[in-house]
Amino acid sequence: MPIAVQFSDYGTSEVLRAVDVAPLTAGPGQVRLAVRAAGVNPVDWKIMQGLMRQQIPLHLPAGLGSDVAGVVDQVGAGVTAFAVGDEVLGTSLTPSYAQSAIADPAALVTKPTKVPWDVAASLAGAGGTAWTALDRLGIAKGETLLIHAAAGGVGTFAVQLAVALGARVIGTAGEHNHEHLRSIGAVPVTYGEGLADRVRAIAPRGVDAVLDASGRGEIPVSIELAGGPERVLTLVAFDAGDTGIQIHVSGAGENGVRALHDILTLIDEGRLRVPIWRTYPLTETAAALDASSTGHLNGKIVLVPA
Ligand SMILES: NC(=O)c1ccc[n+]([C@@H]2O[C@H](COP(=O)([O-])OP(=O)(O)OC[C@H]3O[C@@H](n4cnc5c(N)ncnc54)[C@H](OP(=O)(O)O)[C@@H]3O)[C@@H](O)[C@H]2O)c1
Repeated sequence: MPIAVQFSDYGTSEVLRAVDVAPLTAGPGQVRLAVRAAGVNPVDWKIMQGLMRQQIPLHLPAGLGSDVAGVVDQVGAGVTAFAVGDEVLGTSLTPSYAQSAIADPAALVTKPTKVPWDVAASLAGAGGTAWTALDRLGIAKGETLLIHAAAGGVGTFAVQLAVALGARVIGTAGEHNHEHLRSIGAVPVTYGEGLADRVRAIAPRGVDAVLDASGRGEIPVSIELAGGPERVLTLVAFDAGDTGIQIHVSGAGENGVRALHDILTLIDEGRLRVPIWRTYPLTETAAALDASSTGHLNGKIVLVPA
């Protein structure tokens, strides 16, 4: 029987169990994947802790994860896009922290041979969200974009996607991540008190747009630096709706496959790289989520089924 990671109560990572589950079956219009790698995103430990109960109501026990890369091992009725044996990446319908997962072919793309499994499993959530956020912000060539938490999973994609669009990017990060930000094309600034002055020292007339991937009270300074709320977008500060900024709650949404194609093209051209912070076996999911929840990584965490 395949193994999946589940939890029966909300809580810290001790609630997680690797359990045997009944084999999944691909329904009409679905494919089943033998999971080779599952990407970890902060939303996963937020779900486990019950912090997303309102946005994502669950029946417990439940599983985690939606970023997936794997091999198609069963094809449901009517599926023509993929066949058994195809290597794919994208988003799963059933939890991806598992040896087996069901996916909608419309949320998958072919995995290029030269993209490793750990990178393949790290693109859909963080990359798709970054792509969609920049699209919503309408970032254009020659513009200056400020990104809060630029060294994180979403930030690292957003910096490189914005640079590829021809924008200048200023990114906030702890000092330990400044070299990382320079290496991917951003001008680093330290977050915290005095941020507006540090940004103005680089961009004296302020910035054209702001992407907030931090959610630690950066909205007022963002509106100030952008000269208004219209081109400020947060992925985290869901309570900031009354400020007039854009609030984005839903990952890549309908843009998922377009985003993945763009990201894979940039990877192929050597213009976007995806640092992997660490890979854990599925049986060590608790350690992986503990590491993610420390909030100071500059690379993706990936789970690999044994
Ligand atoms: N709404 C959506 O659709 C959506 C989609 C994806 C993600 N998200 C959310 O977006 C956030 C970022 O996701 P992620 O995957 O990029 O997370 P991540 O990989 O864990 O990165 C978190 C980043 O936060 C930075 N950080 C820590 N303390 C900070 C502070 N005081 N001020 C500014 N930055 C600080 C860290 O940078 P340093 O190490 O340099 O401190 C780290 O790089 C999460 O809250 C996630 O849940 C939302």
